Amino acid sequence: MEWGLENRISKIIRPDTGRTVMLAVDHGYFLGPTSGLEEPGETVKPLVEYADTLMLTRGVLRSCVDPQVDVPIVLRVSGGTSILGELSDEGLTVSIQDALRMNVAGVALSVFVGSDLEKQTLLGLADLVDMANDFAVPVLAVTAVGKDMVRDSRYLGLACRISAELGAHIVKTYYCDDFETVVKNCPVPIVIAGGKKIPESDAIKLAADAVKRGAAGVDMGRNIFQSEYPVPMIRTIRAVVHENLTHKKGLNMFNDLVADENKAKKKSKPKAKAKAKKS
Ligand code: 5RP
Repeated sequence: MEWGLENRISKIIRPDTGRTVMLAVDHGYFLGPTSGLEEPGETVKPLVEYADTLMLTRGVLRSCVDPQVDVPIVLRVSGGTSILGELSDEGLTVSIQDALRMNVAGVALSVFVGSDLEKQTLLGLADLVDMANDFAVPVLAVTAVGKDMVRDSRYLGLACRISAELGAHIVKTYYCDDFETVVKNCPVPIVIAGGKKIPESDAIKLAADAVKRGAAGVDMGRNIFQSEYPVPMIRTIRAVVHENLTHKKGLNMFNDLVADENKAKKKSKPKAKAKAKKS
């Protein structure tokens, strides 16, 4: 593999574990001010040190993230739709030159296999791979699932394999029964999205099951930033992904971190009151 491309991929997927914890905060590109991402900069700040990669849009990167932050960026470069319209009608929203100006490690685009606009989005992926190839930038294909699509291994396996065949370097999909088959049939690394917010224990289990069955990690958003305890959550997911922590051990870790956080909060409260009294 070309040096530049390999170098960029190694910034996204840790070479020592072959896995990654991508923090996805790109939801606003079609959902607007998503719960937990009202002020994306504030959301990201305490979490970024535990993320291997940050996935977001150009606008949020430029206006909300400190340029000195030490985290590789996977820039979402597809969009142009909203929750009110036809979601699959996406186009390219950022040129590869502008992505490079932001020093990205990779670019991401959604494909909508099975939708009326499947061809448009798949050819969009192929075009992006061609453009990104010129600059040795890896492409992450997001296998977005339309409302009428079933998230089973047959559908997700189809979407992942097609994305890889068209040249995606990494594919993002959803965890499903028989996930091993999806992984086996896809020649490039697969990361899983977390999906809608579920109880922390379930999200930890999802990550543990996914990596056990061959995922190269997670590209997780809502189950981290919508948690009441986002820092304990991302730290736990990180340990599950990179240290193979089981669901049970992960849950213990999460509960310990939550207890520590609550203790620290309690400790800092009386001090604040004492200060207020003095002044
Ligand atoms: C939207 C995306 C999101 O980044 C993706 O869904 C990951 O976030 P979450 O874990 O909240 O599902 O690509 O198309």
